[in-house]
Amino acid sequence: LGQQLIYQEQVASTQIVAHDLAREGASHGTVVVAREQTKGRGRMRRYWESKDGLGLWFSSILRPSGVEPKRASQLTLVAAVAIADYFAKNNIDIKIKWPNDLFINGKKLAGILTEMQAEQDAVQYIILGIGINMNHQNQDLFESDRNKSTSLHLESGQMFNLNQVLKDLLVELEAKFDLFIDEGFSKIKQQWESYAYKLGEWVTVRTQEEWDAKVFGIDEDGALMVMDENDKIHHLYSAEILW
Ligand code: BTN
Repeated sequence: LGQQLIYQEQVASTQIVAHDLAREGASHGTVVVAREQTKGRGRMRRYWESKDGLGLWFSSILRPSGVEPKRASQLTLVAAVAIADYFAKNNIDIKIKWPNDLFINGKKLAGILTEMQAEQDAVQYIILGIGINMNHQNQDLFESDRNKSTSLHLESGQMFNLNQVLKDLLVELEAKFDLFIDEGFSKIKQQWESYAYKLGEWVTVRTQEEWDAKVFGIDEDGALMVMDENDKIHHLYSAEILW
């Protein structure tokens, strides 16, 4: 990843730039990174704050051969494990909150947004967007969700060189994708579970109604497995969890 690395000062969203490039035929591994995003986007059409130079905001174009569209969501989990591994190597303890939030000391540090373009049951390309709050020196720098968001600096006291972190992360991401393509999801699944947030703990699941369940792990598809009060196991593909 990052054989083609495109730096931008300010963009609406690196996702949009990456989609445009992919449509024009940009190759697998092209990465777009920006110092600032004015319309950073998160999952479920949420806004993702991406202030100038405070974090890593980047999108990678992936053209995974032989990955069916329904397996594409697993790539989000693959990326989450790669990021958690990177931080673990730097003695920073990260938890992954299903499906794709990275948590540190109970607060949100990073998020992943995977967008897929598929035609006739074949993946054309995937845009893997990653946002990591790095050098915010003050909680007030977060405008929304101030109490639930944090940066690596706030948690570790260190300042980070964004270019270096990006370089190292891309190596980690590439290695993890290779593992996924070569050996499938089962190894990733094990690794994912070793980082799982609230594994074995009770949470509230919101489907049509709200019910309590114990987090059990993920299945071979990457769906969250929970156990209800009657010991019945449920596989959740898109439920909202009130963690
Ligand atoms: C989420 O937690 O909901 C996902 C957040 C993803 C943010 C990244 S930052 C780089 C890329 N460009 C965007 O506009 N979003 C993703």
